[in-house]
Amino acid sequence: MSQNNCQLSMGDIVSVCKRRGFIFQSSDIYGGLQGLYDYGPLGVELKNNLKAAWWKSMVHERDDIEGLDSSIITHRLALKHSGHEDTFSDPMVDCRDCKCRMRADHLLVDGKCDRCGSKNLTESRQFNLMFRANFGPLEDGADFVYLRPETAQGIFMNFKNVLDATSRRLPFGIAQIGKAFRNEVTPRNFIFRMREFEQMEMEFFVEPGSDEIWHDKWVEERRKWWEKQGLSSNRLHLFRQSPEELAHYAKATVDILYEFPHGQEELEGIANRTDFDLGSHSKNQEDLLLRSKVCPNADSTAKLCIQREPRDGGGCLVPYVIEPSAGLDRGILAILSEGFSREVLENGNERLVLKLKPHLAPFKVAVAPLAKNNEAIVNLAKSIVKNLSSSGLGRIKYEDTGNIGKAYRRHDEIGTPFCITVDFDTIDNHSVTLRDRDTMQQQRINIDELAAFLRNKLLS
Ligand code: GLY
Repeated sequence: MSQNNCQLSMGDIVSVCKRRGFIFQSSDIYGGLQGLYDYGPLGVELKNNLKAAWWKSMVHERDDIEGLDSSIITHRLALKHSGHEDTFSDPMVDCRDCKCRMRADHLLVDGKCDRCGSKNLTESRQFNLMFRANFGPLEDGADFVYLRPETAQGIFMNFKNVLDATSRRLPFGIAQIGKAFRNEVTPRNFIFRMREFEQMEMEFFVEPGSDEIWHDKWVEERRKWWEKQGLSSNRLHLFRQSPEELAHYAKATVDILYEFPHGQEELEGIANRTDFDLGSHSKNQEDLLLRSKVCPNADSTAKLCIQREPRDGGGCLVPYVIEPSAGLDRGILAILSEGFSREVLENGNERLVLKLKPHLAPFKVAVAPLAKNNEAIVNLAKSIVKNLSSSGLGRIKYEDTGNIGKAYRRHDEIGTPFCITVDFDTIDNHSVTLRDRDTMQQQRINIDELAAFLRNKLLS
């Protein structure tokens, strides 16, 4: 058993992520693109597992949320009427000496450039964070579109489609996972602040008046969900944004903060967006008795509202929206920084171990033949991999690189919960050695009992 352990710095996390194939700098061979990262063979498994856990808890395990997958390329008018064209920007200053551009709120306390210390700075100017692209063959810029800065707008624009297709009544939600894009001036802290990133967002539509209760419920639900992904409660904190910090659409927002290696920052925001978004995207707003202040919309062809039954007073109702919006990549960074630990063992040796929850682990089990040139052992190991792979446990890895000690070290580092070793005794007594990643305890177990044993450990 281990004697003590310590967490990794951000630099160490970046380096092990590259070495083991979790995350790589994007376009690396051409010098890289700042604020963009690629997920490698293990990273994509981890990311898919986290997405599946979110989808399961939001859509499959509830009866009040539908799923959606809307397009990334977004109509210009959608982001005009959402308010993003006018307000989704950061105040920036340029340093006339070192030519670097920085956010006005990132200047050193005495108003100096945070790179070279010069005070020779321009006035602050707004810099819009949305990526624009040409749409269609003409390159004259007239038909431009945006890459969505949040997945939420696709949900709002499909509100009526989903409602009509599913006959939902309030309260109900629409969930979506997908890429979003922000031309951040200062992308930083590895996958924490990127220009291309992935969100897990759910818009929950409620009766106005019940919104504050639902807001509190969702904050609690979401905090508990992050704990189920392995984040410790003492590293998760709730922060209620001040009126000055709120986004243009929000009446109230509670952030779930996590203690990342670079400091305590937002992992997820849970916003009360009121009737702002559905109201803003609607025509004939004067018929809708909106409570929020919206700009007139002469472009929309729809009223995004619910037709009330006559017995409920009739007319149109625009629901309020509670939005839990989680950063998928930030979740991956939190889970990696929580999970990696360097342990000093009783014999004085060190090991690096990634203590992932089993449902998130890229490989669930590694199966290693003790003698790589013994046909009987190799065949037995391969048949165990085949049987376990078809039993729905998740990805099982046949591991014949290096010796058994190296295999254990590798699988500790990538979070594989169990390693199975097939040895000479296996041929005689049909049993294998099963090693637990966290305790490093080994036990002999009969091959016929493996699937049930692992199912109990990995899926319960
Ligand atoms: N939809 C909220 C956000 O992207 O921050």
